[in-house]
Parts: sequence; structure tokens; C-alpha cells
Amino acid sequence: MAEQKATNVTWHDGDVTRTDRYEILRQKGATVWFTGLSGSGKSTIAVALENALYNLGKLSYRLDGDNVRLGINKNLGFSEEDRKENIRRIGEIAKLFGDAGTIALSSFISPYKADRDEVRALHDAANLKFVEVHVDCALDVAERRDPKGLYKKARAGEIKNFTGIDDPYEAPVEPEIQLHTDEMTLEEEVDIIINFLIDNKIIKKEYYTRASDAA
Ligand code: ADX
Repeated sequence: MAEQKATNVTWHDGDVTRTDRYEILRQKGATVWFTGLSGSGKSTIAVALENALYNLGKLSYRLDGDNVRLGINKNLGFSEEDRKENIRRIGEIAKLFGDAGTIALSSFISPYKADRDEVRALHDAANLKFVEVHVDCALDVAERRDPKGLYKKARAGEIKNFTGIDDPYEAPVEPEIQLHTDEMTLEEEVDIIINFLIDNKIIKKEYYTRASDAA
């Protein structure tokens, strides 16, 4: 848990409530938290899910590792401590998006279970749904895909502390959703998440025809 440094600060509520915001948007806020190795497919699934939600008239917003590290987290590297702070900040941002009524789609390796559990606890305390999605892909498959050529560099010793090579990845024990990206299609993966959001009343069923129902 990060230290509270500022003193004499208190939370200030406005007049417009979360429920009011949800009513305007006709959906609930939530966080879909993708975790997995670099190259496992987190960002690809988040982009496809964002499209699918948009086509249903639902507002989501992607928080993506590389993008966020170019902005608010540009002062953080890949040490255990920096990764922890990276995830803590994203967790807080995702929570704000959820409170605003948006479905935050967060794609970070987030290799440490304790850090992800802290984000979950933050959401639980704020009464916001946290959907942990393990984007599960064997290391050798991710390494073969190597979309950014980073595994090659890590194997050559040009990148230190690279997740899966010389840095750990702690897989989720009980994620809400497990996607085996080396066996499933992108459409199947998106379908599973959309159905989960419907079943958990984040978005409403009438706006979506399940692929399995449509057949
Ligand atoms: S996390 O571990 O703190 O969650 P994050 O998802 O933000 O990582 O960033 C991972 C991305 O940064 C990778 O997809 C890759 O493009 C890049 N990257 C650069 N160096 C490393 C490294 N040492 N380990 C993992 N990813 C790295």
C-alpha cells in the first residue's frame, strides 16, 4: 500500500452521483484487467473488445502499458518497485474511469500477484467490478510472435529484467476469465468477455446477440 503523504485532505462529494452518471451512459463502470506476458495478446484483445463495445453503443477506454508509459508513467522503468508503482497508478486511474461510468480496459503485464490484488481490493472497496482476465499464452508462443522484437533483444542480453526471460511472471490463481490465446480466436475471446459483462449486469443483454444465440 502506498503511503499517504498529504495530510489534512478529505474526499469531497459532488451532487451528481455515480448512479446519475450510469443512467446517462446506460451502462455501469467497471475494469477489465488484462494480465499476461508481453506478446500474449493483451492489447490486441483490448482493441477488439473496445470495437465490439463501441458497436453496442457502450463506452470503454483503453489504458495500455506502452501508451501510459509514454505519458503519466514516463518516469517509471521495469524494476519491481517501478512496476508496482506503474500498476498502482493504473489501478487508481481505472477506478476513476469506473466511477465515471466507463469500462476501463487495462493492458499491462502486471506480473506480480500482490500488485494486481491491491488493484482488486481498491475496486472492491469502491464497489466497482474488477474483471481479471488472464491472457494466457505459452512463453515459447509469445516469443515466436515477438511483435516488437523485444524477446530477441532480451535473449541477446540487450534488455535486462524482461518478463519471462530474466524477470518473473506470477499467473493469476483465480481470474474471472482465462483466455488461451494460442488456442482461441479473437472473436471467441471478445465474446466471452462481452457475455461476462452482460451476466454481471455491467451492460444490458438487449443490446447484444450472443454468437451462440444467433446461430
Ligand atoms: S508492467 O510489468 O509494469 O505491467 P507494462 O505492461 O507497463 O509492464 O509494460 C510492458 C511493455 O513494455 C512490454 O510490452 C514491452 O513493450 C515493454 N518493455 C520494455 N522493457 C521491458 C521489460 N524489461 N520487461 C517487460 N516489458 C518491457
